[in-house]
Amino acid sequence: MSSASPRHVSVLPLEVLALLRPAPGQVFVDATVGVGGHARLLAERLVPGGRLIGLDRDAAMLELARPRLAGLPVTLVQAPFSQLRQVLDEQGVAAVDGLLADVGVCSDQLDDPQRGLSFMQPGPLDMRFDPTTGEPASALLHRLSERDLADLIWRYGEERFSRRIARRIVEARRQAPLETTVELAELVRRCVPRPAGRQRKPPIDPATRVFQALRIAVNDELGELQRLLTILPTCVRPGGRAAVISFHSLEDRLVKTAFRERSLWEVQTRKPVQASAEEVRSNPRSRSAKLRVALRLSETL
Ligand SMILES: C[S@@+](CC[C@H](N)C(=O)[O-])C[C@H]1O[C@@H](n2cnc3c(N)ncnc32)[C@H](O)[C@@H]1O
Repeated sequence: MSSASPRHVSVLPLEVLALLRPAPGQVFVDATVGVGGHARLLAERLVPGGRLIGLDRDAAMLELARPRLAGLPVTLVQAPFSQLRQVLDEQGVAAVDGLLADVGVCSDQLDDPQRGLSFMQPGPLDMRFDPTTGEPASALLHRLSERDLADLIWRYGEERFSRRIARRIVEARRQAPLETTVELAELVRRCVPRPAGRQRKPPIDPATRVFQALRIAVNDELGELQRLLTILPTCVRPGGRAAVISFHSLEDRLVKTAFRERSLWEVQTRKPVQASAEEVRSNPRSRSAKLRVALRLSETL
């Protein structure tokens, strides 16, 4: 990791606490510990007598979180949240009082050039949250057909020039495999025309959308979220609460649909909760965050 003290700022902290209502003696899960910001806020409210089980796929994030959570009743487990049911069984927990999943990426992961998640830093095109399993982005760029690449960039990145970018990727890889963040970012920039005229805001680097799309695909982020939402009713006790913060419209749609199951959940947020203008000013990452919370109903499965 690039820095000893984490840089990531947790989004919607007060809203998460108000809607999840952690209380002494309760058992909570933070399914995406990251650098431990939300985990700390939650765990502090579970004492005395309660505990928090924290998951993250990324061992490096758990190491950043560990000192922040020292002295609190927290168990950290490196695992994807799709395996939450097995993790709870191993921890001897039947069902929890509350769960938070703040899906996506931490600023500290973006800052580490070796992860290849940011086009701002030269590094290998890896992008895996857990670099010990799965396929790095460079392998995906090499393996997929032009059509599949275009679909991926369009679907997960909402990039209008997806077909042109996919064509250029295929042309480039015939010469040599695309291995670095800089190579990919430059290729994308050459495909996307600059906006004409004077802009009010500086234009977003076109590489942003392509890097986001690849990260979502490499980590199967939508599949992971769907698997978590499917097992969630078996992990949260009746009367317990689940909160999901998402940053992409496709993710938010999955959460909205899952919480709409009226025999299982009572929605606590009719519309997704979004960051205030003040929070967006101090933490621009919060701009696209959407928080949905549901109460687990008592019907059996
Ligand atoms: C936005 S950060 C969480 C930040 C955290 N809430 C905080 O306050 O510090 C998202 C984290 O989720 C982790 N993550 C992403 N997908 C995951 C998955 N399927 N299972 C477990 N962790 C995952 C990432 O490694 C990252 O550390």
